[in-house]
Amino acid sequence: MHKTPQIKTAVFPVAGLGTRFLPATKAQPKEMMPIVDKPLIQYAVEEAYAAGIRHMVFVTGRNKRAIEDHFDTAYELESELVASHKDELLTLVRSLQPQDMNLSFVRQPRSLGLGHAVLCAEHLVGNAPFAVLLADDLMVGPTGGLPVLTQMVHAFERLGGSLLAVQEVPLDQVRRYGIVAGEEVEGVGNERVLKVNNIVEKPSPGTAPSRMGVAGRYILTPGVFEQIRSQPQGVGGEIQLTDGIARLMATEAVYALQYEGKRYDCGSKQGFLQATVELALTHSEVGADFRSYLRGLKI
Ligand code: G1P
Repeated sequence: MHKTPQIKTAVFPVAGLGTRFLPATKAQPKEMMPIVDKPLIQYAVEEAYAAGIRHMVFVTGRNKRAIEDHFDTAYELESELVASHKDELLTLVRSLQPQDMNLSFVRQPRSLGLGHAVLCAEHLVGNAPFAVLLADDLMVGPTGGLPVLTQMVHAFERLGGSLLAVQEVPLDQVRRYGIVAGEEVEGVGNERVLKVNNIVEKPSPGTAPSRMGVAGRYILTPGVFEQIRSQPQGVGGEIQLTDGIARLMATEAVYALQYEGKRYDCGSKQGFLQATVELALTHSEVGADFRSYLRGLKI
């Protein structure tokens, strides 16, 4: 018999304005920007679904309608595809909404930070552990291995405490991340897990407790809601998720998993371009042609 999955809900904070990608994001959500042929948000939703999660909660804002429409039935499109016997495309379009997947949408009425966005989802999450995925961070699991959130769900089932995905980042980039420090605990196989004893949002290189940066994947226990609710504003005047996690550490164990796989920071132009090139190279339809095109470039 299958074990009942412990993580049933994933929260996607998607209310951000995407100012780093203007003018592309003036009238469309940054989460709808495609890497090759799929929007960023779809990669994240598929990662959550692959990890056994069936309830997807989107914390949205104004101008984010396209995200709701993307996961909804597109009647006109589907009937056109039926009429023109484009069966493969029809299957592709319909695959975005598996029957057993439930979606909820809640508004974050003001840009008060990531912690505040997560708090907006509290009533939809309930009193249970949940995942948070930042769609800007596109995560690709190792070839032949498990997707990153699935690695985390497995580790959570063993550890039982909140868990953050981390990776080593260059010292001159620590100010772009939540940075953790901790003691190594026993993992399975090659897995590296830390029990976190310090976490700081966007420290300067001189004060960073380590170079372990939090990537945009979290599994959190519901105790974090209470911490976020009662915390003061943090860096940039925002209610930071990192600060809520720091407070949670006073009452519960918090772990960090050095995941296997690759992260593309698609919130930056550089990361977005890298993801586009690398995912295009492995794409079943365009990969081979794109590779020979790149080889022919005089750069
Ligand atoms: C957020 C978090 C930060 C984390 C990062 C990962 O920052 O606040 O702790 O390391 O995501 O992408 P943002 O990139 O939204 O500024």
